[in-house]
Amino acid sequence: MSQPQTRPYTEHRPAYHFLPPAGWMNDPNGLIHFRGEYHLFYQHNPESAVPRNIVWGHAVSKDLVHWKHLPIALRPDKPYDKDGVWTGCMVDDGGVPTAVYTGVHPEVQCIATSKDMMSWEKAPENPVIAAPPPGLQVTGFRDPYVWRSRDWWYAVVGSGIQDVGGTILLYRSRDLRRWEYLEPALVGEKAKTGEMWECPNFFQLGRKWVLWTSPVPLGRVLYFVGTFRNHRFTPEYQGEMDLGGCFYAPQGFRDARGRRILFGWLWETRPEKMSVEAGWAGVQSLPRQVSLSPEGRLLFKPVAELSRLRREHVNLPAQLLRSGEEVVVKGIAGDCWEMFAEIHPQEAQKCGIRIVHTADEAQVTTVLFSQANGTLSVDRSHSSRYEEVARDVRSAPLSLKDGEPLRLRLFVDHSVLEVYANEHTCLTSRIYPQGTGGYQPHLFAEEGTARLMRIEGWILDAIW
Ligand code: FRU
Repeated sequence: MSQPQTRPYTEHRPAYHFLPPAGWMNDPNGLIHFRGEYHLFYQHNPESAVPRNIVWGHAVSKDLVHWKHLPIALRPDKPYDKDGVWTGCMVDDGGVPTAVYTGVHPEVQCIATSKDMMSWEKAPENPVIAAPPPGLQVTGFRDPYVWRSRDWWYAVVGSGIQDVGGTILLYRSRDLRRWEYLEPALVGEKAKTGEMWECPNFFQLGRKWVLWTSPVPLGRVLYFVGTFRNHRFTPEYQGEMDLGGCFYAPQGFRDARGRRILFGWLWETRPEKMSVEAGWAGVQSLPRQVSLSPEGRLLFKPVAELSRLRREHVNLPAQLLRSGEEVVVKGIAGDCWEMFAEIHPQEAQKCGIRIVHTADEAQVTTVLFSQANGTLSVDRSHSSRYEEVARDVRSAPLSLKDGEPLRLRLFVDHSVLEVYANEHTCLTSRIYPQGTGGYQPHLFAEEGTARLMRIEGWILDAIW
């Protein structure tokens, strides 16, 4: 579905990332692979590009790439959710798709079931968790995430303990309707990891357990990998999911092939006024498959199905990349493309890819690897001639082992730039250049010669 042509900023509207026909979107909700189809629900305001009057939008896909919009699934129409049907998940309760979500106000946990994935019935038992555990001074109580283990359903609910820190509350139930509070699965330290943990996900991955959450006020996603015994989670490794500055509230699910896949909300980094004029705000990230490295850190890669979008293909021969010279990837230009670069930095202190606007080369976004600093960054300080959009540099730690090449995968889709480095480091960004025409990748090295091992690019199709 395309936007009316009278709207401004159509050049910023992504074409192969998921977004609603119009209006506001934030968190992905209710992800499930059910009867051969992928369902994506999402926090949505269909009326306007502002976060008000939130409903659950709904879309379905056979391949995680092409989506069909479906009617709104949940609306705030009960006393316990009249101020919002907020984030939640979806489980298959013996063949009955069951949404477990937060109703507001105050924040309570509710369920809704469906026979056909189209019409939804809120349970007469709602709210099924009517208040936080007695005696706890909480900073929030929302975003239930549910899984099944033998005869029990378990849920984690995002919360925080006043003056202590973000907290994950653990519950269990036989029937999704009567819940028993167990204990906090994990409590953070306010000064380090924030006061309220939104949108927790908790699941087993191989021999470990993974917990991720979006802490307020950090505005980014932390993950922990560890062990889970006697209702207690013990983290052994802590990491950042995406340090690009616009990725938040991811939700994951396990599909019928056993893959753990997540979507994350990519928020806008332009003023609300621009979004309102454009008529839309918020994009879902590409679906990312999550796995565990031998050292116990999370690995992220876009799902293989995305290769269905590939059209024209460009392949450059291996070559040296000298300081001060640029290799322009001819044949890759426009608003929608993907590229893969394998680079041995050798003695080059810096190397990377400039994403240059084709109609106005002064608008450039730089993906930069610095050997000296051990960082990968996305520099948006020259991305746009619009004064009012965010222009910053976002960095993630990245060091290469001896002989290990830098392996960059870039996805460009109008105002979205997703960068994956060596499968473990993600930087997702939003860029809003002035004018149409899209971008072209230019490879560069500084302070020494790097070696390009493999460069490939593809023009990508739109999904609508
Ligand atoms: C995270 C969040 C959730 C909440 C939802 C409301 O972005 O604040 O905690 O359920 O958005 O839209």
